[in-house]
Amino acid sequence: MSQLKGYVDQKYLQAARHLLAPIKQRTYELMRVEPGQRVLDVGCGPGTDTVPLAVRVGAAGRVVGVDTDAAMLAEADRHAAREGVSAWTEHRHADAAALPFDSNLFDACRSERLFQHLQNPEPAMAEMVRVTRPGGWVVVLDTDHGTWSTDTPESAVERKLADFRVRRMFHNGFAGRQLRRLFAQHGLAEISIEIVAGYFDNYAFWRLMSVMDRVEAEALAAGVVTADELARWRAGLEQADAAGVFFGSESLTLAAGRKA
Ligand SMILES: C[S@@+](CC[C@H](N)C(=O)[O-])C[C@H]1O[C@@H](n2cnc3c(N)ncnc32)[C@H](O)[C@@H]1O
Repeated sequence: MSQLKGYVDQKYLQAARHLLAPIKQRTYELMRVEPGQRVLDVGCGPGTDTVPLAVRVGAAGRVVGVDTDAAMLAEADRHAAREGVSAWTEHRHADAAALPFDSNLFDACRSERLFQHLQNPEPAMAEMVRVTRPGGWVVVLDTDHGTWSTDTPESAVERKLADFRVRRMFHNGFAGRQLRRLFAQHGLAEISIEIVAGYFDNYAFWRLMSVMDRVEAEALAAGVVTADELARWRAGLEQADAAGVFFGSESLTLAAGRKA
């Protein structure tokens, strides 16, 4: 992942893992994973999903995770070893746009919060479809950062920061809303779409998950907001936090489709 746009570390992904636990389970259900199957996770990060998938397929199955970040892959291997699933779980360095696998190899293929970081998600989508067997399921969960919103009296500042955040932090911050089109254009059948909206009532956690320290500092440096606007914005959020009424929300799109 580009270190400039949207890079998040393993600490961030561990925090996200707990927040997203129910929707992660839903992705496994939509993959229709069964014991003995071969499954792929593209942009696997620190093995957050390869390990539970390995538990689902069991020792007679095979799980492969690919990522372009060596540190993530090393942590994914450690995670698999800790959980005792290494014998049938492999983490490999590979780009989503050029998967090093034969066509029709996997029973199911997933990716989560990867497309938001890709300048062009088309090749990754094509590759996921290519390596999935006919009749197998492709599942993608991704964020629509255009839905990022916060309850604040400074709504004009909020909109400037929201627009800056989606363009500065992500190559493809509107990834979630593109999934239905991508799935249809790549010939997938039985397409289902689910919108998962989440909210934050913990201000500090929202700041961490929205990478707000960085967004605010860069927006100020870029002249998108003034120091005065930023001070008013922060004061409003801190007041809401002190009163116990902070609220921020965002939605993700979960798409599933079957290879014909
Ligand atoms: C937001 S993280 C999500 C990780 C994991 N899917 C999860 O849900 O915890 C995005 C991951 O995609 C990886 N990534 C970014 N660009 C990639 C590419 N072109 N091919 C494969 N992986 C990529 C990053 O290194 C990172 O681990």
